[in-house]
Amino acid sequence: MASIRKVAIIGAGGNFGIPITKALRTAGFDLTIISRLESQTKLPDDIPVIRTTYDLQGLTAALRNQDAVVNVVGPAGLPLQKTMIDAAEAAGVQRFVLDDFGRAPSQTGLPDLEPMGASRREILEYARQKASSNLAFTWSAVAIGIPALKKFPTMGFDIVNRSAIIYDKGTEPFTGVTLAGIGQSVVGILQQPDQTANKHLCVQSLQTCQNEILEAFETVSRQTWKVKNSTSAELIARGRARKEAGEGVGTGSGGWPVV
Ligand SMILES: NC(=O)c1ccc[n+]([C@@H]2O[C@H](COP(=O)([O-])OP(=O)(O)OC[C@H]3O[C@@H](n4cnc5c(N)ncnc54)[C@H](OP(=O)(O)O)[C@@H]3O)[C@@H](O)[C@H]2O)c1
Repeated sequence: MASIRKVAIIGAGGNFGIPITKALRTAGFDLTIISRLESQTKLPDDIPVIRTTYDLQGLTAALRNQDAVVNVVGPAGLPLQKTMIDAAEAAGVQRFVLDDFGRAPSQTGLPDLEPMGASRREILEYARQKASSNLAFTWSAVAIGIPALKKFPTMGFDIVNRSAIIYDKGTEPFTGVTLAGIGQSVVGILQQPDQTANKHLCVQSLQTCQNEILEAFETVSRQTWKVKNSTSAELIARGRARKEAGEGVGTGSGGWPVV
């Protein structure tokens, strides 16, 4: 497969778009940002921007001469992804990085999140079929687990007040990815197109648990933190109550889960 140099990024000014764009730029890719005609998003001044309608014709014209597309639009734009894939194929793009950045396909989650998982699996299948019927088109997707602690201030740690809520035993392991790590994962995909073609890749910056994070905070602050214990069952019940009240997953600021 030819090496990838020219990269179009859709959704460059978002939560994940910013660190991905920064990482791609640092890695030396030739970037173009694709944005909606009506967009009010602040975008970098020094990267070319194509503003277009998000239909097949507009997107195909915008994506011509690009080697790869990175799609990182917010949840409201996800229904457009099949059109974006069709446009990338029509424009002769060789790699489409899917707007996934969620769980690995093998991971099971809460039934409440199933509709989100189902729509992502549908897109994955669509990209798979496209790649099997057209060998010039390839896709990649990234599973990130829990993103940046900074984006989840309610995850249990109150740095200002030196207090923590520890759920269950606090020893349950989870993986996490920094925002810089998310950017680096996309760079890795595009720098190694043969190894990453038609693959859903799982990335992590670290594997840890709440007790380890608490210990690290106590060590660097040289202070014993106030600890309150709770359970994941309570957290889930609270999240479900908020969802019932119309404040559920995806309705937080920037689409971040609300608990
Ligand atoms: N694993 C996790 O926990 C986790 C957490 C957060 C996000 N994610 C996933 O990461 C991806 C990106 O999320 P994000 O939070 O970075 O997105 P975001 O910041 O909410 O939005 C990114 C960009 O999407 C574009 N956009 C917004 N609404 C749109 C619409 N209706 N149609 C088309 N484009 C639209 C805008 O770009 P323009 O204004 O330039 O058009 C916006 O700047 C999503 O797939 C999201 O589900 C996963």
